[in-house]
Amino acid sequence: METIYVEMTEEEIDEAAIETAGRILREGGLVAFPTETVYGLGGDALNPASSKRIYAAKGRPSDNPLIVHICELSALGTIARDIPEEAFRLAEAYWPGPLTMILHKNDIVPAETTGGLDTVAVRFPSHRVAQALIRAEGGYVAAPSANRSGRPSPTLARYCREDLDGRVEMIIDGGEVGIGLESTIVDLTGLPAGRPVLLRPGRITLEMLEETVGPVDLDAASLGGESSGRPKAPGMKYRHYAPKGSLTIIEGPRDAVTAYINEQTDACRREGRRTGVICTDETAACYRADVIRSAGSRSDEEAVAHSLFRILREFDEEGAEVLFSESFSEESFGGDGRTAGMGQAIMNRLIKAAGHRTVRLPGSGET
Ligand code: TXA
Ligand code: MG
Repeated sequence: METIYVEMTEEEIDEAAIETAGRILREGGLVAFPTETVYGLGGDALNPASSKRIYAAKGRPSDNPLIVHICELSALGTIARDIPEEAFRLAEAYWPGPLTMILHKNDIVPAETTGGLDTVAVRFPSHRVAQALIRAEGGYVAAPSANRSGRPSPTLARYCREDLDGRVEMIIDGGEVGIGLESTIVDLTGLPAGRPVLLRPGRITLEMLEETVGPVDLDAASLGGESSGRPKAPGMKYRHYAPKGSLTIIEGPRDAVTAYINEQTDACRREGRRTGVICTDETAACYRADVIRSAGSRSDEEAVAHSLFRILREFDEEGAEVLFSESFSEESFGGDGRTAGMGQAIMNRLIKAAGHRTVRLPGSGET
């Protein structure tokens, strides 16, 4: 298949191209498009054949459910039932925006879209190109991140092309995304008896959720740990965000971390292997690796979140095989673990990208 490429911005939406994209989706085709978090791979959420095509294009296991994207609040009642009052409070506070809610699904949503679950993930994105596309489609666009399964989520259309060229009808290039990490996912299906559960941390932080709906529980997978038993967000059990090289996170006092990483990268160089380091503005000058990438200043967690997936892709482009990252645990942003802002979301993605390989160096404190 020949993939069509179009470019547009939120300020200047190409209405004709959106009309074409909407038609492609209605006819069962696939369109990759920008959102405020990462690029999505869209299909008609109410058409089982479209969802099957999404899984095939991504190379994604079909028990890993898709998020249904809507462009007006009233659409919620069509796809979900028994909606708790907390969902409307969260929608009021954070929609449109980077928040996904898990609710009980209505029959109109096919099992193919929800990976066989009787719940559905719903998100109302704030990106105007995404909204225009959803409207043109008719209101219900299933969209996982637009990467091949296991790869870092795309923050640029170029990365969608890398993963999906020839596998989808159209890719809409809307420039670099704003946030750079996927939406926060909160499970509301245990209400009213139980509490909301944070399944995937993101830009809408735990404390922002709690401000709106009171105490929220944490799923083990949301902290980067392995969930015991069946994970609540099925996607959390698969290898994720992986660069082609092998990545290890190094934790410990700052000087010990830089010394350790330099020792390791020097040894790799002697063996002729290319190395990469994810560091911060504060430490970038200390390293001797082949590819040194600062994720931003350690005091700016939004910058770090924004650059993480791009850096993982850049290591691949540069052919770096042995990769190290400083740790970005909650404490390093000044949080206390529960009031951690986006540190939680950053570490969740980094730990998965590293396949849980972490080296803890002796000594107190973080880098
Ligand atoms: O920011 C985002 O959410 C992006 C953009 C494109 O909107 N989308 C995205 O989708 O990240 P995806 O498919 O890469 O991640 C969706 C996650 C998966 O971990 C999946 O298991 C979980 O949501 N999920 C979907 N439906 C669910 C459900 N009914 N119950 C529990 N988890 C669900
Ligand atoms: Mg994904």
